[in-house]
Amino acid sequence: MRRQLARLKRHQGKYMIFGTKKANGGVTALYRSVIRLYAAIPYSFSRTGRSFPAWHYFFEVTRRCNLRCKMCQYINWLENTPTKVQAEGELTTDEWLNVIDQTGRWSLITFTGGEVWVRKDFGTILDHACAKRRVHIISNATMLTEQRARHCVELAPKRLGGKGLNFAGISIDGTREVHDTIRSQRGAFDKSMKGIKILAETRREMGKRCPLIHINTVILKDNLEVLPEMPRVAAEAGAEVLNLLTEMRAHDLPELGHADPASFSQSQLAMPTIDTKRLDEVLRETMREAEAAGIELRLPRTPYEELLTYHETGYDLTNYECRSVWTNLYVGAKGGVYPCFIHNVGNVRENTLREIWNSPTLRRFRVRRREGGFAVCQGCCELEHKGYACETVCSRQPQEEAPPRHSSIHAAE
Ligand SMILES: C[S@@+](CC[C@H](N)C(=O)[O-])C[C@H]1O[C@@H](n2cnc3c(N)ncnc32)[C@H](O)[C@@H]1O
Ligand code: SF4
Ligand code: SF4
Repeated sequence: MRRQLARLKRHQGKYMIFGTKKANGGVTALYRSVIRLYAAIPYSFSRTGRSFPAWHYFFEVTRRCNLRCKMCQYINWLENTPTKVQAEGELTTDEWLNVIDQTGRWSLITFTGGEVWVRKDFGTILDHACAKRRVHIISNATMLTEQRARHCVELAPKRLGGKGLNFAGISIDGTREVHDTIRSQRGAFDKSMKGIKILAETRREMGKRCPLIHINTVILKDNLEVLPEMPRVAAEAGAEVLNLLTEMRAHDLPELGHADPASFSQSQLAMPTIDTKRLDEVLRETMREAEAAGIELRLPRTPYEELLTYHETGYDLTNYECRSVWTNLYVGAKGGVYPCFIHNVGNVRENTLREIWNSPTLRRFRVRRREGGFAVCQGCCELEHKGYACETVCSRQPQEEAPPRHSSIHAAE
């Protein structure tokens, strides 16, 4: 415990966050430390893999989507499954309301997909969650109408950290043309930007600070040259934070989530490679632009050099650990439950979340993951560099002042 505390202290203030609207201040630091300890205590001391109650839930309410992004983990499924079949087996409205009721009182719920607004009942699900928990949504915002934006702001708490919609993460992968090419839809950029602007404007009109808006941008070969323009895009849209995310490729693997995660090797992954010299130049320029635009820029939570290395050879996973399986739980569109996308541990149609959380299967997985990473962990934004603070960046954990990172991790149903 003393070692954990010393480590926390040593790394305080090393946040890899650039820009002017920084998440700082005593309350934030304290909040981060508490969250860090919440995972650190069972991670360090539980031999059996038992953990404290989950505090961050990711609910993938649907896998259906109105876009077809090139890098998306669901692209093959989206392109090859007839639309009618895509909705088959999804949890019903009542089932989702019941799942929400099973979460802990102090937990945070992230709704993601697919595209959440493709579900006609998403407003009802959101209402229910916001009345009871702190909530975060991730969306492409193309379907965020004025009415929905107003609804979102109405559901926002008076103060950050209160019950209701605290954070909204919207994905923009480049400037207009680049984004539309990556997202495979002409006009997608304008639609998403319109959605974010309506949300930010409504928030201003209603005199609220929440939901805090963060833009998610995946670092890709296709958008490398326009990354420095992203802080300006984020500022123009009215967002507070720009999250740059590493691209994962593990989802290309068949049977992922159901086969033993150790059965996959890195050679099976189509790892993203980018010229590291150019990446370095671009990232530095993006940091300068963020400063100029007054946007908080958050990079993956790894030492900067490692971010470059990732795009050359991948991470050396022996330098990383993962605590998220001790705090997070995912529920897929058809009710599958996962500590993360690489391992299915049950279904809400068969067991409660509480039964699954400290079940022998999940406990075994935590212990196994603590012993070492799997090749399929490459690029995962939950990886924490051992020599660095988990509080650095790419944190999907909620921050008092900064919105959580997106979930690139999804259920492999
Ligand atoms: C799967 S999407 C679901 C939510 C919504 N449809 C959207 O695009 O924001 C969640 C996030 O994952 C990101 N994402 C998609 N493919 C990814 C990949 N291969 N690696 C990392 N993140 C990815 C998206 O850009 C988005 O920010
Ligand atoms: S990244 Fe999001 S918007 Fe794009 S296809 Fe995947 S789920 Fe849809
Ligand atoms: S690092 Fe990511 S992929 Fe690996 S076990 Fe942790 S959450 Fe899962």
